[in-house]
Amino acid sequence: MIEKHRHITDLLLQSHGIDASGYDPSFLSKSIQKRITETQCGSDEAYYILLEQSNDEGKRFFDSLHISHSEFFRNPLTFAVLERIILPAMVVHTKKTKRKEIRIWSAACAAGQEPYSLAMLLEELKNSDSEKFNYRIFATDHNETQVAEALSGQYAAEALNSLNLKRVKQWFTKSGETYTVKPELKNNIDFSVFDLFSEHFSCPPSSIFGDFDLVVCANLLFYYNPGYRKMILEKTGNSMASGGFLVTGEAERDMLKNHYFHEVYPQSGIFQKN
Ligand SMILES: C[S@@+](CC[C@H](N)C(=O)[O-])C[C@H]1O[C@@H](n2cnc3c(N)ncnc32)[C@H](O)[C@@H]1O
Repeated sequence: MIEKHRHITDLLLQSHGIDASGYDPSFLSKSIQKRITETQCGSDEAYYILLEQSNDEGKRFFDSLHISHSEFFRNPLTFAVLERIILPAMVVHTKKTKRKEIRIWSAACAAGQEPYSLAMLLEELKNSDSEKFNYRIFATDHNETQVAEALSGQYAAEALNSLNLKRVKQWFTKSGETYTVKPELKNNIDFSVFDLFSEHFSCPPSSIFGDFDLVVCANLLFYYNPGYRKMILEKTGNSMASGGFLVTGEAERDMLKNHYFHEVYPQSGIFQKN
């Protein structure tokens, strides 16, 4: 297994100048298997020859490593705890300490489902609160196409399956088959392209100094090997305000427990630094 993945990463680097060494070995193996099936190569060896000789296949294999699937309110338990406990407490704390705004980083925002879900919760809190508060969400992804899609805020009907009808009516306008996020949901979100492995920046430059009350870094850790996961967790962890929260994906919860974080509510995927 290990030999197989090393062979592929060497091949990608030598034949296509693509560095895939940061990916998790088991994710790489599954991706290789998938391409072998899709290309009907029939064997590892036949696929290696194709990969060595074809520029197109090099690009296709690399593209297959970039998974951008996302959903509104993707992990219902996480979002329920955010909605009922964490965000209301944050509002109280922000007012009490006279903090200027609640600061949130959606660190792998894909096509925007995650930051828009957070904005819905905060706008709904604002509407139910007589004393107003400010918030800002910095939504970033390393994939330019994803950030452009997020910024457009346009979705097909199927993408809204995880939203209740009330939220669909309140936060989207429908034109033909397309649903577009209303401008008031976008007002407090700052979208930008940002690579979590950037050597130059410790947090999105648009946020200037980080200091986030909440960082959502969900459903990307498991694609990377442990060394790369550690880099991501150090970067996101260092950008948090004191007492801030880090949210991760349902399948990634165990990865944080070894990195000086504890889960604040069982199974929630919401962590604080030890
Ligand atoms: C599977 S999606 C998850 C989206 C969302 N966080 C969620 O939980 O639904 C993974 C996202 O991570 C982004 N990503 C992967 N590596 C990244 C990196 N090094 N820096 C920033 N974004 C990255 C991908 O472009 C993709 O949009």
